[in-house]
Amino acid sequence: MGKKGLLYEGKAKKVYETEDQDQLIVSYKDDATAFNGLKKGAIEGKGKINNRISNHLMKKLEDKGIKTHLIEEINDTDTIVRRVCIVPLEVIVRNIAAGSLSKRLGLSEGTKLKKTVLEYCYKNDELGDPLVNEYHIDTLELATAKELGQISSMALQINQILTAFLQEVHIELIDFKVEFGRTAAGDIILADEISPDTCRFWDSRTGEKLDKDRFRRDLGGVEDAYEEVLRRLMGE
Ligand code: TMP
Repeated sequence: MGKKGLLYEGKAKKVYETEDQDQLIVSYKDDATAFNGLKKGAIEGKGKINNRISNHLMKKLEDKGIKTHLIEEINDTDTIVRRVCIVPLEVIVRNIAAGSLSKRLGLSEGTKLKKTVLEYCYKNDELGDPLVNEYHIDTLELATAKELGQISSMALQINQILTAFLQEVHIELIDFKVEFGRTAAGDIILADEISPDTCRFWDSRTGEKLDKDRFRRDLGGVEDAYEEVLRRLMGE
């Protein structure tokens, strides 16, 4: 299957149409941005690494019954996925306080949350992806109540599956962001990516950050951290 026209270019990926109207090709880039595009850079090799990490984690989720957009990895940076209409929500799942939650609620980073926290942000760059609740989502008609029920339950299941799997390779899943899409038949499936760009991964033995916070906060060793996550997932 080959790429036809470029459908969309995002901050970290390009999406192409294919000869099959139900399938797209996602191409992962090395580009990295933070703070709604204010900070720009590149992480060498990130495209290849995130393509592999995301596909590996999506396969693990599929094995446990989570429907995803993944069809087939076709080369280092490119993957064929099911075409969906993205629900314009960033669904954030948090196990440990970090990042914007720490700032907003005054919880020091690393505080274990009593219960998993679920948040939604409205995907809208001009508005800076604001935090929204069920009422806002209903008013803006971003998703139906039924869809939101499916989305929240899938997000919590994904958290359980990934937390357990990552624990085996000594990675603590602090928080992550996922996105969902509607298929032509109206089903909700997991879309976008799951990678060190979209998750906080801390080494469970040393506490070292193995994710995009190394780029956001200028901590150095960004490429090495991404490679380390891939190595551990591949059992190397
Ligand atoms: P936050 O603490 O900055 O709100 O981030 C929560 C999680 O969501 C973290 O794992 C990083 C991820 N995330 C994205 O994938 N994309 C984004 O645009 C933002 C702000 C966060």
